[in-house]
Amino acid sequence: MENNTTRSTRDLTRIPESYWITSTPDTSYPALDKDLTADVAIVGGGLVGISTAFLLKQAGVKVVILEADRIGKGTTGHTTAKITSQHSLIYAHIEQYFGHEIAQQYADANQAAIQTVARIVHEQAIDCDFSHRPAYVYTQAEDYIEKIAKEAEIAKQLGIKADYLEETPLPFPIKAALRFAEQAQFHPRKYLLALAKLIPGNGSDIFETTRCVDIEKDDKLPKVITENGHKVSAERIIIATHFPFYDGLGLYFTRIYQERSHVLAIRMRDSFPEGMFISAESPTRSLRSQKYDDGELILVGGEHYKTGQGENIINHYNNLRDFALTTFDVEDILYRWSTQDCQTVDKLPYVGHLTANTVNLYVATGFGKWGMTNSTVSAMLLRDLIVKGESPWQDAYNPSRVTITASAPEFVKQNANVAVNYISGKLAILPVEPEIKVGEGRKIATDGKIAGAYRDEAGKLYLVDTTCTHLGCEVSWNDAEKTWDCPCHGSRFSYKGDVLEGPTHKPLNKIDQAPNDPEPNL
Ligand code: FES
Repeated sequence: MENNTTRSTRDLTRIPESYWITSTPDTSYPALDKDLTADVAIVGGGLVGISTAFLLKQAGVKVVILEADRIGKGTTGHTTAKITSQHSLIYAHIEQYFGHEIAQQYADANQAAIQTVARIVHEQAIDCDFSHRPAYVYTQAEDYIEKIAKEAEIAKQLGIKADYLEETPLPFPIKAALRFAEQAQFHPRKYLLALAKLIPGNGSDIFETTRCVDIEKDDKLPKVITENGHKVSAERIIIATHFPFYDGLGLYFTRIYQERSHVLAIRMRDSFPEGMFISAESPTRSLRSQKYDDGELILVGGEHYKTGQGENIINHYNNLRDFALTTFDVEDILYRWSTQDCQTVDKLPYVGHLTANTVNLYVATGFGKWGMTNSTVSAMLLRDLIVKGESPWQDAYNPSRVTITASAPEFVKQNANVAVNYISGKLAILPVEPEIKVGEGRKIATDGKIAGAYRDEAGKLYLVDTTCTHLGCEVSWNDAEKTWDCPCHGSRFSYKGDVLEGPTHKPLNKIDQAPNDPEPNL
């Protein structure tokens, strides 16, 4: 772990790194090196996978977790970690498109998730900076006042302790706000790592650096297949890989799109008011504090955009920095990081059976930006489906629901957007420039093909084929993270071509250079 007192990244030039990851130890669970059998195999060691395994083990089920990288380093390691049932203005949307019963299920599930995390923290004595806080959604726009008032009214009808306000403790004026009482926040990796320690033993286990690439269903017991060819046979398989690594004809890539957003962790000279805050309108501004050394960090988040789309991604960080500098008395900016979220076309998550015909395959995805409560909801819901055969919230989260009115506009928009990006990526006209500078990445023409080029700090040039290995769209350069991001369904790759985020599990093809020729042929 790093010495906190030596940091300063005010100029935003350092490689992004998450405070949650930097401030917790690495894990070293073994890789799977043989075939196994378990009651339940869970693919993915984020908060969904670990929480579900914990609850299943408590129910007497033998569980195996298979994580492609290290547990808790994906979305869980890059969140703002607000544990809230307040998901911006979600309840008015659910009431309008799904009806009161489904809104009640969603509210009950997320309120129960807050209580479940609080109970686990207390019972297991987990030191994870957990504290109850109110959550606010505020507006500075006249046309959102009525929306906030309506959301407050619906939330109250659903039994949530919600209040409409005309001011908040924030140091800037607002037009209206909605306050949910008894919400919470924590350090997500401290929580996850403590839970993970409770899983191995009595037939349950965790395997890291074990990438799963397929599921075989050719006999009674389905099997997860790893990229090294090992098989885990299980009565039930849960896909908890953020974007599902296996589709099974659920056609998730037509119903989910991925967005990125950014976080700055700043120190300020004043103290931050108690509470978690988010703006109702764009550009989104999300704020919370976090215990840090003898003081606190303030997390300033927002600036979402569809993965792989847009240029000069670093400007999103610059916008957050400018907001922070004009809003707070900033002493320093210590960390910056990004996260990726799966959004469903009708705004409700998919948790339950992968398809209506796959009784022993389950999925949990599409939490939008509200993964802390929804991952715990997923754990409870999946445990109940597996142990009891039903959950009180299964209809609200049903992955096979048909919600044409709620989903059609976003479905059409997203799939048209994929088509446009597929075609425009292929038509790119590339400037012929002979030199890629240190730290620079861009597409170039080489041997009549498009190649993605990046030169690292040591001067080494990396060339990759920019055809996404999922369904063939052209990836684009992300200058803030030094990655290749796909504009179609959000797969991401390192500058070397290694997979960082699915749906793909195959790396970009590498392009060889001529020996002794550090520059590509142009
Ligand atoms: Fe689907 Fe790239 S993620 S084509």
